[in-house]
Amino acid sequence: MIRLAQGKDTKEIWEAHIASIREVCSKDYSSDQVAGWSSFAYSHEHWVKTMKKDHVLVYEENDKVQGFCHSGIINDSTAEIYGFYLSPLVIGKGIGREMILSTLKYFKDLKNIKIVKLMATRTAKPFYEKAGFTVTGPEFQEPTRGIMLECIPMELEL
Ligand SMILES: CC(C)(COP(=O)(O)OP(=O)(O)OC[C@H]1O[C@@H](n2cnc3c(N)ncnc32)[C@H](O)[C@@H]1OP(=O)(O)O)[C@@H](O)C(=O)NCCC(=O)NCCS
Repeated sequence: MIRLAQGKDTKEIWEAHIASIREVCSKDYSSDQVAGWSSFAYSHEHWVKTMKKDHVLVYEENDKVQGFCHSGIINDSTAEIYGFYLSPLVIGKGIGREMILSTLKYFKDLKNIKIVKLMATRTAKPFYEKAGFTVTGPEFQEPTRGIMLECIPMELEL
């Protein structure tokens, strides 16, 4: 089930995020990058604040959260997908597609949002292309928790 995130989900969001980096993105990044990228402490407060401020969807299966899509508004006409990570247990089954469609519908229904941006991982670039996003510039290095991560700027016009 895809639903809005709640305070009780924070630990499982954190677990799914780490598993997704270590077991899914690891095929496209070096082990040093994966180690740095996935070395963040659990913070319940961080996610509760984020849920109040932004739009956070989770995917729940068998009473456990297996991933999230975190997005928000950056100005009057633009939204951004900040983070989208599914656990390796549930990827490749169409759940990502359902979550991105739900997120895009949320922004479209707001009427004023015209563009949705994101910085794609190498891992997710083909997924976003299938969802209608296009690459808007060359791959670049994003500083992330002490390491540099190759990302690709992409956007979709609603
Ligand atoms: C990106 C992610 C959220 C996609 O979720 P998913 O549930 O695996 O994707 P889906 O199964 O819904 O795939 C939807 C379509 O994209 C395609 N697709 C997904 N990943 C793909 C890949 N790596 N290469 C090629 N096609 C891919 C699927 O084949 C499917 O196509 P179809 O509709 O023609 O069958 C998930 O794979 C993930 O968590 N990846 C690791 C974390 C990450 O890199 N997140 C992005 C941060 S910007």
